[in-house]
Amino acid sequence: MTYTCPIHGDYEPTDWSWMPPSARIRTTTCPRCMDAQRERERALQQAYDADCRSYDRWRQCGIPTRYRSRTLDNWQPQGAAQQLAGKIVRRYVDDLEANLDAGDGLVLSGPPGTGKTHLAAGILTAAAQRGIIGRYISWPSAVERHKATFGKRDDDDAELLEDLRTGRLLVLDEIGVRSSSDYDRGLLFELVDARYSGEWSTVVCTNLTPAELDTVGERTADRLREMAATVVIPGTSRRIAAGTDDALRSAPWALQPPEKPSERMEISVDGQMQECTLSVNGKEVW
Ligand SMILES: Nc1ncnc2c1ncn2[C@@H]1O[C@H](COP(=O)(O)OP(=O)(O)OP(=O)(O)O)[C@@H](O)[C@H]1O
Ligand SMILES: [Mg+2]
Ligand SMILES: [Zn+2]
Repeated sequence: MTYTCPIHGDYEPTDWSWMPPSARIRTTTCPRCMDAQRERERALQQAYDADCRSYDRWRQCGIPTRYRSRTLDNWQPQGAAQQLAGKIVRRYVDDLEANLDAGDGLVLSGPPGTGKTHLAAGILTAAAQRGIIGRYISWPSAVERHKATFGKRDDDDAELLEDLRTGRLLVLDEIGVRSSSDYDRGLLFELVDARYSGEWSTVVCTNLTPAELDTVGERTADRLREMAATVVIPGTSRRIAAGTDDALRSAPWALQPPEKPSERMEISVDGQMQECTLSVNGKEVW
């Protein structure tokens, strides 16, 4: 028997007689409709997988929870100097690929609460959206975690500092927060020197002014001055204001777990158009 697909014209149903009856489905579906359905499912699956990868990359950055909703767009500069700082950061992100290829970074320097970590999180998010896996680390916590591995074997953090020495983009938050020992300064030097030598881009956040930067170690500061442009963010802390800023408090995470697409399309069965649900394989997103 011949069927007529309203889209593809006459067709012979596929011969399924070789299959066990229980496995025979849609014996009279138009084969070209089935091809179109598979094609559409493939496209949906690809787009969904890409969204999942982008979201995974972003989750792997290690952006602290509070800053997952902080983007370059919801960083509102106050005053001309902050406006300029915001512009420099934006330009850095606009040319991100070129900057990372050159190993160029930024030193965001300013008093507490002026939005340095906020901006740095925004840079990581923008990077993830462009397929780049960055990494966030608070330097004091990295040093603590490193020290906690002393005398322990097989500790997850044993290779933390080595891991930070490479990688296309590292946000190194809170350097120079308290008077550190020679040993701590040595650790920072080793990290910065490795990233300097390997031309790996680094975005540093610090309360130190450019003139005070040498307190992290003269040779470390000297390398940072070559590998990262200084962005001064003057001003007073925004934390009290941020605490009551409803728009900021309720801002969603910059990236959301992608939703599995649920799309339907019409295919011809028995020569009749019939709706079917396209199937897309989901994976665990967290
Ligand atoms: N320009 C801004 N626009 C909107 N929100 C801001 C801005 N600056 C800071 N905030 C908000 O204020 C709070 C403090 O900002 P953030 O933690 O980034 O400051 P910081 O410069 O990193 O401070 P610290 O030196 O103490 O680490 C955050 O909630 C942040 O989102
Ligand atoms: Mg900070
Ligand atoms: Zn058809």
